Amino acid sequence: MMSFSTSSKVCRASRGVQVRANSVDIREEARRRAPPSKSELFNAKFLPFEHVASGQDMALCQESYSLDEVIYRSASGGLLDVQHDMDALKIYGPEYWKALFDERVGKTSWPYGSGVWSKKEWILPGIDDEDIVSMFEGNTNLFWAERYGRECLGMTDLWVKQCGNTHTGSFKDLGMTVLVSQVNRIRKKGLKSLSAVGCASTGDTSAALSAYCASAGIPSIVFLPADKISLAQLVQPIANGSLVLSIDTDFDGCMKLIREVTAEFPIYLANSLNSLRIEGQKTAAIEILQQFDWQVPDWVIIPGGNLGNVYAFYKGFKQAKDLGLTDKLPRMVCAQAANANPLYKAYVNGYENFEPVKAQSTFASAIQIGDPVSIDRAILALQDCDGVVEEATEEELLDAAARADRTGMFNCPHTGVALAALTKLREKGVISPSDRTVVVSTAHGLKFSQTKVDYHASEIEGITSQYANPPTKVKDDFGAIADVLRKHIN
Ligand SMILES: Cc1ncc(COP(=O)(O)O)c(C=O)c1O
Repeated sequence: MMSFSTSSKVCRASRGVQVRANSVDIREEARRRAPPSKSELFNAKFLPFEHVASGQDMALCQESYSLDEVIYRSASGGLLDVQHDMDALKIYGPEYWKALFDERVGKTSWPYGSGVWSKKEWILPGIDDEDIVSMFEGNTNLFWAERYGRECLGMTDLWVKQCGNTHTGSFKDLGMTVLVSQVNRIRKKGLKSLSAVGCASTGDTSAALSAYCASAGIPSIVFLPADKISLAQLVQPIANGSLVLSIDTDFDGCMKLIREVTAEFPIYLANSLNSLRIEGQKTAAIEILQQFDWQVPDWVIIPGGNLGNVYAFYKGFKQAKDLGLTDKLPRMVCAQAANANPLYKAYVNGYENFEPVKAQSTFASAIQIGDPVSIDRAILALQDCDGVVEEATEEELLDAAARADRTGMFNCPHTGVALAALTKLREKGVISPSDRTVVVSTAHGLKFSQTKVDYHASEIEGITSQYANPPTKVKDDFGAIADVLRKHIN
């Protein structure tokens, strides 16, 4: 296939004059126009998460790894964390960062028009712009849930961060652009031999991985639990050309297998165990701050399964606070499906002892996880922000999603879990009517249309579908239609 840059050169050569070709290589254009980069001032590396959690000085940590290493665990087998050189970032004051981020929003200048890469210095400062694999992800809208807040919850300041309104329909794009960019860099620079990138998935991670890999021409392999993800999720990696393995197990089983496989084969692991993903996902938190003109909301409610995302939001809020852009953290709520609630159970016991559970089937299928990889990360995040964990039953999550749909949204079941958690916390008086509250919507409702169809047809066993709005069958006849309309209007 002819690349954009080739066609651009042909155009210049054949006409003998400098013209702007129809197809412009925006990477090349960005390189030409770029001011001398400040990127080399900043750097980041992998540190053991235990060290980060201990609150000790990063400089005292004896163990660290370059981001170019293919490594997922510390020497003691714990999680890793991407740590930035905060002293270097502090060379610039908060007003500098705010102005820089604000100025980049939504442009096409490569790669800073992306909601993730507009914050490149805080994410992956060392990567060359031309190695970045981006689809201008992020910059998702913050929906003012005015009617839902007022009519259903008595709230005046309720917002929904629409992280699912994005390229592959879920927040996973935010982390995947970072991970696949780093793999692209490693492969292009010949730093390590990596034949493919692989993940276990409850549907959304595989969709994002396959799209970003397809965009960069990198092979991808996805392990999916057979019959436990929606058709729309399944078809995404198929369409993007991944090797799709549909395995007769659950997500936790797929996760175990992919870890064994990536230990044996030169396949890079793309699950959120890999802390590069967290770096991209944390930009959704920074974006919320930016969208509120750097005012910190009172509450942020996040549906959680493997629990990487709740930590990612914490990291974003914390970095903004540590660099002086804000003066506090919001209180976060992690919302779990009651059928897959190991964090909720630990929270109720004061985090005394965490026990994995066997996750039961839930319509919020992407969070049907009983043994979350990021449990330690999530507990640190929630303890530091005085956070709360709440759970929602199947009926509660489906009703909450459907009721909010009636006010103009189109929610996925995971967003339903977060909305149901909000209802409960309002009823308990934990969240007050005037608290500025953000519900994080993690995926697009269209990925879960079958669940909605079944709900509105009142065909879900054990669920009353109290907000069902089934289509009315009418004869091809004016009188019949008029009868229906009269009844409806009255
Ligand atoms: C739509 C959706 N919501 C929420 C989550 C939960 O995120 P995490 O697993 O990081 O807790 C996922 C993860 O797969 C997801 O796909």
